[in-house]
Amino acid sequence: MSNKYHFPAGNTMLQSLAGSFKLIKDPIGYLSIEMEKFSGTYSGFMPDKGRVIVTQNSDFVNYVLRENHTNYKKAKLDTDVVAKQLGTSLLFVNRDDWRRQRRLIQPAFHHASIHKLYETVISTINTQIANFPQGEQIDVYPLMRKLSFSVLINSLFNIDMSSQMTDELFRAFVELQAFMTKDVLQPFRRLLYPLTGEEKKLIKQWDGIRDMLRGIVALRRADETGHNDLLDMLLNARYEDTGQGMSEEQLISELLILLFAGHETTGSTLSWLLYLIASNHQVYEKLMSTIEKTDMLDSPRDSYINAIINEGMRLYPSVWINERVALQDDQFGGFSFPAGTSILTYIYGMHRSESYWENASAFNPERFLTPEGVIDKNIKNYFPFGAGPRMCVGNNFAMAEMAFVLHAIFKTFHISTTGATPKEWPLLTLRPHEVILEIKKR
Ligand code: HEM
Repeated sequence: MSNKYHFPAGNTMLQSLAGSFKLIKDPIGYLSIEMEKFSGTYSGFMPDKGRVIVTQNSDFVNYVLRENHTNYKKAKLDTDVVAKQLGTSLLFVNRDDWRRQRRLIQPAFHHASIHKLYETVISTINTQIANFPQGEQIDVYPLMRKLSFSVLINSLFNIDMSSQMTDELFRAFVELQAFMTKDVLQPFRRLLYPLTGEEKKLIKQWDGIRDMLRGIVALRRADETGHNDLLDMLLNARYEDTGQGMSEEQLISELLILLFAGHETTGSTLSWLLYLIASNHQVYEKLMSTIEKTDMLDSPRDSYINAIINEGMRLYPSVWINERVALQDDQFGGFSFPAGTSILTYIYGMHRSESYWENASAFNPERFLTPEGVIDKNIKNYFPFGAGPRMCVGNNFAMAEMAFVLHAIFKTFHISTTGATPKEWPLLTLRPHEVILEIKKR
């Protein structure tokens, strides 16, 4: 087999095994060294996947995600509890099942639809911000995560949900993520689950969450008044082929996946953004003068605010690495590889490569603007929301939400650094480990 295919140069099985401890301990540090060594694309071995290709080459990533996307599928979900609870939802399904779901759900995220949610989003942000703590040593990550979660909950269910219910849901997601992280990084722990019972406990908790959502959906079905939320839109959506709506269980899975995919990504990005802005005097000043002359409602259309968000996601892309599996043998740029090969697209590396970005590690929102000061639509080598047909369905929503949040926070508070640099914590998403900032009312 090794003669038939021409994998990129890389590490042998033994070298990969030796490197695996470093990879688990400091994935970004490890991958950055390998990328340097092998000029942006290399092959290695992973115990559960065999020979894999890791690349930060923009053309290769584009080929896999966009040009030849029909030859690639998402990797199988390893974590059983997630597969059981959420595995049939948009984020994880493949091919025809995916296409059908995407067509059904996408209209709820078109510009015109999400515009209808703005009032809810803005009032949620303002309510949350009014309760922000102030002081010299505030970790803003939990605040941003909770804020993003509340925005999504209220956009999905525009009802008076009790804070106890919201907290229970929030806690379930925090625990699920902690479990998944351990499960992925230390797969050998799976052998212990029958003894520790932790997987069983989580499945029980998630069965309870699904019951809670079933209750909300049942109440909504019996209620004839419009609520102007995503639940209404999803309940009214019809499959093109059958003219029917989603089954109850499918709907619950989709509601959960929107919460799952939409809150941690946005919460992490916002935390990085607060840190970056607070650490950069020029950007801070320019943002303040932009905010002075822009209404909160108009902030998603402001070029400078969008450039700041884009630049934050360039440096800290939430989905910092992604995986696709080849369905048939394939080749790209002189390499060839068999069906079943995993291609790991290292977006973080691409976004920080000096081959693509001048002074790549500097925070410079201007690079996203044309000389006339509007958003440059021709930016390349930039994939914070993925690419091709499986690009993030919630990107417009996320961009608008983040613009609103930045406007509201900087209008209300003075944010400054404490000198502490947040540590990158690349789990399933690229989280910051503590973003300690000073928050004072303006
Ligand atoms: C800063 C915020 C966000 C970032 C950086 C982000 C990033 C991404 C990326 C990179 C993908 C593609 C993954 C792949 O190719 O395998 C994706 C998919 C997805 N995202 Fe987001 N996302 C964000 C916010 C949201 C929000 C707010 C929602 C929903 C409310 C959402 C829902 C989804 C869903 C459902 C998918 C799967 C789409 C499909 O496979 O068709 N995301 N996201």
